[in-house]
Amino acid sequence: MCIEKLVIKSNIRNYDVFFENDSNFLSNLATKENTIFIIDENVWNLHKNSVLSSISPDRLIIQHVCEEIKNLATVCELYDKIMAFSPRKNLTLVSIGGGITQDITGFVASSLYRGINWIFIPTTLLAQVDSCIGAKTSLNYKNYKNLVGTFYPPSQVHIYPEFLKTLRKEDYYSGVGEMAKLHIMNGEKDTQKFIDSLKAIDELNFDTLLNRTRHCLEIKKSYIEDDEFDIGKRNMLNYGHCFGHAIETSTNFAISHGQAVVLGMILANKIALRQNLMSKDMEEYLYSNVLDAILVVDIPIFNIEKIIEAMKQDKKNTGNGLALVMLENGYQMTKITNLNPGEVVEVLEEFNKNNINRM
Ligand SMILES: NC(=O)c1ccc[n+]([C@@H]2O[C@H](COP(=O)([O-])OP(=O)(O)OC[C@H]3O[C@@H](n4cnc5c(N)ncnc54)[C@H](O)[C@@H]3O)[C@@H](O)[C@H]2O)c1
Ligand SMILES: [Zn+2]
Repeated sequence: MCIEKLVIKSNIRNYDVFFENDSNFLSNLATKENTIFIIDENVWNLHKNSVLSSISPDRLIIQHVCEEIKNLATVCELYDKIMAFSPRKNLTLVSIGGGITQDITGFVASSLYRGINWIFIPTTLLAQVDSCIGAKTSLNYKNYKNLVGTFYPPSQVHIYPEFLKTLRKEDYYSGVGEMAKLHIMNGEKDTQKFIDSLKAIDELNFDTLLNRTRHCLEIKKSYIEDDEFDIGKRNMLNYGHCFGHAIETSTNFAISHGQAVVLGMILANKIALRQNLMSKDMEEYLYSNVLDAILVVDIPIFNIEKIIEAMKQDKKNTGNGLALVMLENGYQMTKITNLNPGEVVEVLEEFNKNNINRM
């Protein structure tokens, strides 16, 4: 049963996020005519005999998922597989999986017949708390991550925490990283609320997860509804991501997105501290109570040259220096575009030194 609904306003078309506490929504979708399902292979294998048992194999495409297949070649393969079902133009595509499944199938849905009806069921915590709204679809092109894409929201999103039970720890904590980011961005009270919820989140308590997830989506909604096409306020959601993307690239995606974002927030806070934008107390408070508490990956020794190179390539760069979104005292967000690479080198060198000492 759907226990709650959130409406997201979009320039393209308003859409609904449903919070579910059983799998009836899937049985209902499975009986709809002219519907094709694309499901992440891992999710299908783990849930085909339980949550997904109502989905008939004769309208199913199982998709192997990894960052390397998030490209135009996979999109073309999916066009072929969909057309093999001889669908009518008014078909509905239902995709079930994490952010990669969302990005590929969203692109397919936005381009096939210039846009078909698309329903997304996120199965990772990251996709549930963050990527499922905002309407972005992205593909990698050659070595450029998320270079190609469209704005195309699903018509419906269904959030069902049951899927999260089978996530690997690092993938689960990738979502916890994005959850932390949104709570921190929304101020001191929400940061404390997140800290108070950490134990329940760790124990996969569904009530807490649904509450925190709904709150994350409400926070993100306030940014994307004001600036859906990411030309102003929405940029602030890149807190932790300027370093985070560079860390992902420089480690060849060995670190999951949300965990790289946690490291990115730690580094952005260190720059804010150096620039007297954030007090030492605040930096330490966020590090000890939130960021260090949710890091589950081994912290790498950063390849400083590669990180600087990746930050220079960041498509959000518009100024003379590097772009960085930072949190300031009072939990205000700010973005600078003139960050000196020398300052980044110093912070990364110090971070590497402390990291080696911890080993
Ligand atoms: N479009 C957007 O707005 C947006 C926003 C953020 C991130 N992204 C993209 O999302 C991608 C990362 O997505 P993600 O972290 O959600 O994960 P993912 O789609 O990369 O999945 C991570 C792993 O978990 C597996 N998996 C998925 N659901 C599972 C489940 N319930 N149980 C067990 N295993 C499961 C997948 O098969 C995969 O191996 C990146 O490519 C990133 O660029 C897009
Ligand atoms: Zn992110």
